[in-house]
Amino acid sequence: MSKSSLSVTDNRTGKQYEIPIQNGTIRAVDLRQIKVADDQAGLLTYDPGFLNTASCRSAITFIDGEKGILRYRGYPIEQLAERSTFLETAYLLLHGELPSAADLDAWVHGVTHHTIVHESIKKFIDGFHHDAHPMGMFVSTVAALSTFYPEAKHIAEERSRRNQIFRLIAKTPTLAAFAYRHSVGMPYAYPDNDLSYAGNFLNMMFKATEVKYVPNKALERALDVLFILHADHEQNCSTSTIRGVGSSHSDPYSAMAAAAAALYGPLHGGANEEVLRMLREIGSKDKIPAYLERVKRGEFRLFGFGHRIYKNYDPRAKIIKRIAEEVFDVTGKNPLIDIAVELERIALQEDYFVTRKLYPNVDFYSGIIYEAMKFPLDMFPVLFAIGRTPGWLAQWQEMLLDKEQKIARPQQIYAGPDQRDYVPIEARR
Ligand code: ACO
Repeated sequence: MSKSSLSVTDNRTGKQYEIPIQNGTIRAVDLRQIKVADDQAGLLTYDPGFLNTASCRSAITFIDGEKGILRYRGYPIEQLAERSTFLETAYLLLHGELPSAADLDAWVHGVTHHTIVHESIKKFIDGFHHDAHPMGMFVSTVAALSTFYPEAKHIAEERSRRNQIFRLIAKTPTLAAFAYRHSVGMPYAYPDNDLSYAGNFLNMMFKATEVKYVPNKALERALDVLFILHADHEQNCSTSTIRGVGSSHSDPYSAMAAAAAALYGPLHGGANEEVLRMLREIGSKDKIPAYLERVKRGEFRLFGFGHRIYKNYDPRAKIIKRIAEEVFDVTGKNPLIDIAVELERIALQEDYFVTRKLYPNVDFYSGIIYEAMKFPLDMFPVLFAIGRTPGWLAQWQEMLLDKEQKIARPQQIYAGPDQRDYVPIEARR
């Protein structure tokens, strides 16, 4: 008997089965042979929220949640945050290797020269109400891009995929900044190709009457590092969404709009916005214990805490806490940081958080930095989406090229009524 297998006895029938184990995993379809009668479908696994189900093989991102390790293509996140740039990291995620100098130049040039959006996109954004949430505008305009590039449907063609990848990475900051400018009633600021990816984004966000916007170097670098930290995170909710939608072979704009919509929720990328609301509501350090009591009573969750995969400190949160100091040297200290640090200190001594292994996640400190940099609260999830774009696209492409992948279509356990006859309306009670 092979040692890399699972012996199963079905006590309903007394039959025995040998299920192979590979990479610490059994194939769910191997359970289908386990059935009571030949005309039955066979054993299913039930896993709401995919707590224990691998949906793909991926060579992009490695996480060890127990140890708090995150690597892109094998490179530790700490090294990338220290030494790489966002566009280089995006190349790495999409191509699997760090680029040569010439490849990086061509890549940066390609992204930089796709930043302009069709003038009609502005009309879409103009049509939104003045207080529309920028994430709603972002999701809609990413989807709208598919109408400008109908060839994006040709997802099997490498060249088409490459073009849409350039466009999406290049245009997301433009869409994000335009959404912001619309909400504050400022004229749209066009991309400036002399600037870096993050520098140009700051230009499109904050340029006022100056002829040329000059980003602050420290803030530009801090934003670039924040984008690196958000660039991928394996099979999270939004990434599973782009894989799921993309598995029906829809174009990448539609699939990425769906991913951004998934990110918008407060349990995922919308948490950074909620953290700031929470810290403001707490207001001062002396209110923290009472607030935590309410969390422990289950009245609400502590936003920016807890993670499905990390049962240790999120390595991104550690780096973000460090960047905060560098940003505050330029912007002045955001007083909310003191409340956040104290909240973390007290929470990590509480049994409730210790036993459940709830630690600060990426969203806990990022909003405090964004606010110090003058980004409004409702732009926080949009900033997350800009950073996550290369990861979504790398995962989308990997899914398309994976011969084992099929259209995503989970099973269900039917829990409704048995067959019954239609009742005419006058006979219904
Ligand atoms: N505050 C208080 N209690 C929490 C929190 C929290 N932030 N997170 C989890 N718990 C508790 C749950 O109540 C549950 O307790 P119980 O066992 O007594 O019922 C236990 O910890 C396990 O929680 P689950 O909801 O089962 O964990 P899951 O893995 O499904 O959820 C999630 C992960 C959604 C991130 C959760 O921790 C949460 O809601 N956090 C707050 C929102 C947040 O910060 N989201 C951003 C995550 S990072 C990202 O997506 C980029």
